[in-house]
Amino acid sequence: MSGVLTRYEQLVAAGELRPDPEQAAAARRLDALATELEHPRHTGLLRRRIVPARGVYLWGDVGRGKSMLMDLFFASVDVPAKRRVHFGEFMLEVHQRIAAERAHEQGDPIAPVAAALAQEARCLAFDEMMVTNSPDAMILSRLFTALIEAGVTVVTTSNRAPSELYKNGLNREHFLPFIALIEHRLDVVALNGPVDYRRDRLGAQDTWLVPNGHEATAQLSAAFFRLTDYPVEDAVHVPSDDLTVQGRTLHVPRAFKGVAVFSFKRLCGEARGAADYLAVARRFHTVILVGIPVLGPDNRNEAARFVALIDALYEHKVKLLAAADAQPDALYPAGDGAFEFQRTVSRLEEMRSEEYLAQGHGSIAIANQSQ
Ligand SMILES: Nc1ncnc2c1ncn2[C@@H]1O[C@H](COP(=O)(O)OP(=O)(O)OP(=O)(O)O)[C@@H](O)[C@H]1O
Ligand SMILES: [Mg+2]
Repeated sequence: MSGVLTRYEQLVAAGELRPDPEQAAAARRLDALATELEHPRHTGLLRRRIVPARGVYLWGDVGRGKSMLMDLFFASVDVPAKRRVHFGEFMLEVHQRIAAERAHEQGDPIAPVAAALAQEARCLAFDEMMVTNSPDAMILSRLFTALIEAGVTVVTTSNRAPSELYKNGLNREHFLPFIALIEHRLDVVALNGPVDYRRDRLGAQDTWLVPNGHEATAQLSAAFFRLTDYPVEDAVHVPSDDLTVQGRTLHVPRAFKGVAVFSFKRLCGEARGAADYLAVARRFHTVILVGIPVLGPDNRNEAARFVALIDALYEHKVKLLAAADAQPDALYPAGDGAFEFQRTVSRLEEMRSEEYLAQGHGSIAIANQSQ
């Protein structure tokens, strides 16, 4: 037994996790995988060839504990060459590497890119696998076939069963081999119990707090710790993050387990654009935004940026917890674009709803693609 199951059972025993039979089964499977990666079996005449460990595709609805289990697995698996990466970021990197390969080499760029990735990590753990665009869909089958052939073990989480990936996507027939690959080469494990634990942790928490100030900050701070399981005692050490967007850096003052904290000033008060907001929306499933002021005619730039931010968050179904000096409909009463701002108000209202909060993080762009 490796550490995954032990750690999971400890957390349940300590009351930090509620008992959940599907989670326990998934933890057992990941435990076995960790053990296999730590003690690889060998084959061949000279017993030199490692038998690649069969990966795991963990799928289920939001808040079921997929990322939590994958984090347990990743933290405890004792192999030197392991890498955990958000799937969306990984695909951006893959496209960059392919472009670089094409620039100086003729022929198929996917094979050398896969070989390089396999050199770097024997275990690749992806969070939030989703396929929403045709460039990704077109290369995934070949890329992952090459990775698995090279002995890479893939562990991934997803909100969809493999057969539902890239549903209604353009040229989906070219994507079907990837689904077959997952179904044949990975263990598909469903984690689809009745409880959305994230929603549970959010509780009756209102997601739009008025006004800014100590009370709102205290509530949002508590929500951050509940959502991330970060120990409150260690508040001064909450990690930060830096997103690179078109060569510029966007500093995220607090970022942990997919939850980011920003001030309105940082995010909408400086020269930022749609690309920055897209990066934020892709990277985080929950954004906590504090210090939203009432905007007036002098704040048209801030208002425009705020509109772009909310569009990106909304389109990626990111949960927004905010502290503001007014309710959404009184946020930008007069100024350039105040009329268009009504759409943002409407989105903000929807983003507070039970239905919105129950959705999984991800892009809705796919619906437009198939037309
Ligand atoms: N058994 C449990 N008891 C209590 N809390 C849990 C349990 N399982 C998970 N959680 C907590 O619920 C929250 C959501 O879990 P997690 O982020 O792993 O969900 P997920 O399945 O990855 O969701 P998504 O599909 O949205 O990414 C986390 O804060 C996690 O620690
Ligand atoms: Mg997750």
